[in-house]
Amino acid sequence: MIVFVVAVAENGIIGRDGELPWGRLPADLKHFKRLTLGRPVVMGRKTYDSLGRALPGRPNLVVTRQPGWAAPGCETFASVPAALARAQMLADAANPADPAGTVCVIGGGEIYRAALPLADVVYLTEVHHPFAGDASFPPLPPGEWREVSRERHEADEQHAVAFSFIELRRRLSE
Ligand SMILES: NC(=O)c1ccc[n+]([C@@H]2O[C@H](COP(=O)([O-])OP(=O)(O)OC[C@H]3O[C@@H](n4cnc5c(N)ncnc54)[C@H](OP(=O)(O)O)[C@@H]3O)[C@@H](O)[C@H]2O)c1
Repeated sequence: MIVFVVAVAENGIIGRDGELPWGRLPADLKHFKRLTLGRPVVMGRKTYDSLGRALPGRPNLVVTRQPGWAAPGCETFASVPAALARAQMLADAANPADPAGTVCVIGGGEIYRAALPLADVVYLTEVHHPFAGDASFPPLPPGEWREVSRERHEADEQHAVAFSFIELRRRLSE
């Protein structure tokens, strides 16, 4: 099963100059960790650069067109389908009892766009504010996705903006 984990401003922006435009949202970082820990994470090379290191406790798979690119703790792939296939193998091997081991696609914009047709679930943190930026989340085709849960958090001393944790599942075709 392929799940996306993403935080999106209300105008679709996900990144600016290699960073999250809204700064730190500690509750969202915890949410991200809970969803991804122990699961293979697939990311674009620019997202790897933003993180600056492999995420601990998860197989890290990085997609790049640069032959020979390498980073400690990461496996490198020349295409999104190749990375997803390897990630699915790792997820299934990690838990043989679960026939649909979970692979997490963690961005950025280019990788979400390329993998969207294969996504089953989107864990979307909607940041209730518009931001300027240079990376965006692809629009989800209307009618193809249904919202199964939503949990709103107001801004507070640790969170400059309000946000909602939303789970979307692909509608099965009839
Ligand atoms: N809000 C969120 O949840 C979230 C999540 C992740 C990232 N972000 C933000 O998003 C921004 C990065 O996103 P982005 O769209 O600019 O970059 P990205 O998707 O992270 O990475 C793009 C890179 O991936 C490689 N790539 C892309 N498509 C490929 C393909 N089909 N085959 C092989 N390699 C491919 C290329 O690497 P090479 O150039 O090395 O060839 C390309 O430059 C940052 O600002 C980051 O902070 C936000």
